[in-house]
Amino acid sequence: MPFYDPDKIEILIDGPTIAQRVAELGAQISADYRDVGGDLVVVAVLKGSFLFLADLVRAIDLPIEVDFLGLSSYGSSEETSGVVQVTQDLTRPVKDKHVLVVEDIVDTGLTMQYLLDNLATRRPASIKVASLLHKPARTRVEVPVHYLGFEIPDRFVVGYGLDYVSKLRNLPFIGVNVGEGPPYPA
Ligand code: IMP
Repeated sequence: MPFYDPDKIEILIDGPTIAQRVAELGAQISADYRDVGGDLVVVAVLKGSFLFLADLVRAIDLPIEVDFLGLSSYGSSEETSGVVQVTQDLTRPVKDKHVLVVEDIVDTGLTMQYLLDNLATRRPASIKVASLLHKPARTRVEVPVHYLGFEIPDRFVVGYGLDYVSKLRNLPFIGVNVGEGPPYPA
């Protein structure tokens, strides 16, 4: 028996498909920023983006910086309220640098909108967004996603960084919880 219950997790996007898409995004980002000049800092939004970040930065063929921003949004576990708190700030200023925000998923868009407004006050040279996933059916505010991994249906997903009540971030694929109860042994 694996650490999750395979009867309760349906694989939506398998590991090799994720790897292939992340490689494509890395190549695209490398080409787009190669000749822009100035520093590129990849800002990862904790915690959900950590695996996407780790794979994506290794697919970027440029001398980038990496920094982290911790955000927590109030609301029920499966629905953001749009009220966002910075729980961990960047360690260095991004003024005059090119910022690439790396997020796990843009769902309603409320978190990303808050983040983009917050980062804009720091006067970076530019801001772009890379998100592994996007659920277009749930959009409440339109936010730009310049580099998108996959559009997904309106289902709650887990794995490859995304959690189910803080667990299962370490699944090597993106899955959907099906059936009753938690998708791991008690
Ligand atoms: P938004 O503000 O509604 O766009 O939500 C963004 C945040 O909600 C993401 O960064 C995730 O942390 C969380 N989230 C939204 N949908 C899911 C999901 O299907 N699985 C796990 N986390 C999710």
